[in-house]
Amino acid sequence: MLKTKGRVSLLNEIEGIDSLKGHIGIAHTRWATHGKPSKENSHPHMDNSKNFSVVHNGIIENYIELKTFLVSKGYNFLSQTDTEVIPNLIHYYYSQESSNNKFLHAVKRACDDLKGSFAIEVISILHPDHVIVTRKDSPLVVGKGDNENFISSDIPAILSFTKNFYLLNDNEYAEIYNDKILFYDKDLNEISKELKNINWDSSSAEKNGFEDYMLKEIFEEPNAIRETIGTKLSIGKDIVLDELNFTKDYLKSINKIYIVACGTAMHAGLATKTLIENLCNITVIVDIASEFRYRDPLVDEKTLAIFVSQSGETADTIAALKLAKSKGAKTIAVSNVIGSSITREADYSIYTHAGPEIAVASTKAYTSQVTLLAIIGLYFSETLEHSNKDFINNIKKDILSLPDKVSNILDNVNCIKDFAKQVYTEHDMFYIGRGNDYAVAQEGSLKLKEISYIHSESYASGELKHGTIALIENGVTVVSIITDETLAPKSLSNIQEVITRGAKTFIITNQNLDDKNFDFVFKIDNISPYLSPILSIVPMQLFAYYVAKEKKLDVDKPRNLAKSVTVE
Ligand code: G6P
Repeated sequence: MLKTKGRVSLLNEIEGIDSLKGHIGIAHTRWATHGKPSKENSHPHMDNSKNFSVVHNGIIENYIELKTFLVSKGYNFLSQTDTEVIPNLIHYYYSQESSNNKFLHAVKRACDDLKGSFAIEVISILHPDHVIVTRKDSPLVVGKGDNENFISSDIPAILSFTKNFYLLNDNEYAEIYNDKILFYDKDLNEISKELKNINWDSSSAEKNGFEDYMLKEIFEEPNAIRETIGTKLSIGKDIVLDELNFTKDYLKSINKIYIVACGTAMHAGLATKTLIENLCNITVIVDIASEFRYRDPLVDEKTLAIFVSQSGETADTIAALKLAKSKGAKTIAVSNVIGSSITREADYSIYTHAGPEIAVASTKAYTSQVTLLAIIGLYFSETLEHSNKDFINNIKKDILSLPDKVSNILDNVNCIKDFAKQVYTEHDMFYIGRGNDYAVAQEGSLKLKEISYIHSESYASGELKHGTIALIENGVTVVSIITDETLAPKSLSNIQEVITRGAKTFIITNQNLDDKNFDFVFKIDNISPYLSPILSIVPMQLFAYYVAKEKKLDVDKPRNLAKSVTVE
């Protein structure tokens, strides 16, 4: 067993790495929950007899209770992790087992004692020919190869080895040999599982000449949007979404729509709230999944709840979905990953087609999510026969123009790079806007802080004067988004207020402004204000990227963050 603290690449430098022998292995990059990042707390963890090794993703909520029990039976613990109880529990049950398949039964008995969430892989020197895996509320996929098999938390990680996957459900077990895989239900009855083929191109999970995945993924946005639109839209014909297939009567019966998600996916909900509300005349509430799940929200059969998740594996989003379903809501999963956990829980699933997103900071997933939610909004509106056809057709034309308009932005990145060079040493930046420009300001600000570690806040422009303007001074940059001509005069007054207080200004706009009044103006094409976030976010993504590059940071793997947050 070899492990270390730090980046995965450091494993190559561990003494003994070249002399490792064997044909099965387990590994895990830990996202520290219990116990600080250290070699002792890294995975795998072994039982005291060193017969069983385990890697675990998730949180064992009752680990203190289990540890106390195991200590009373004479077991010692070497780490501060919750995980270390698992191999010791397996050892405890293994020594009591008399069944034919002692290993599998011991793993199951250990798992029956665990509360919380887990995806685990277990190997044993007593059974050196296979790995046992199981999951509950944490993701795990099994990849089938040719005389070799793979286990991973998500599909992109092993896409270059196989495109054939089995998806394990909660409380199912698998024994993975090099030439066969056996599946079991929660009572260890053998079951068969369907092999799914994922048609993602494995090169889309590689950098293809770009310096970083994030930059590559920003440049993939026109195509991701195009693929997400697919054949769903045509001018003059009603949208048909076979995935949803709702009736007018059903849509008339609902009195509110919830959009629930985390991080960038939640911001995609904010960016489409007004479109859905105005086009359908139904209240839309956008909520953070980790809040929604714990505050007894007003949800019933008259609620339609949409859950947005790139990975489809975010623990809080899955829990929020289960709650909404239990309260009688119809649920829709909007995800980028076919067969992911939220799509298996929801009543209906519909996919963005952004391809694998590897960089931790989400870019093409966001623009694809906003595009898809807008199409869903139009579909509801047409089914309800709520809006004027010409008005809807104009929005459809704008959606179809998005890939080209995003490409226009990408043709013009050097000026953003130059501005990033001027401001990358700053400590505070503010993002402001009104209406949908405020919704997208929140995502722009998140991008900057995620990868550049510069403190940043987003504000509704009109709210600045109620406190935050006290922080505006020389040495602060204010990024302002102005894409709605009806709100532009108001936004411009707010920008004057920050200029007066010494801030630098970066304006993203489709309006004709007098450039010399501002430090940097980036022009985007005209589009319906309902869709403007899909264009205005792109210069903000690039700005965050170039600032982080100037600071020589690892943009793809920012500190403390994970691509898929599968723990609470
Ligand atoms: C993490 C990622 C974010 C992402 C969020 C929700 O925090 O770093 O980029 O927006 O999870 O992820 P999901 O897969 O549910 O969209």
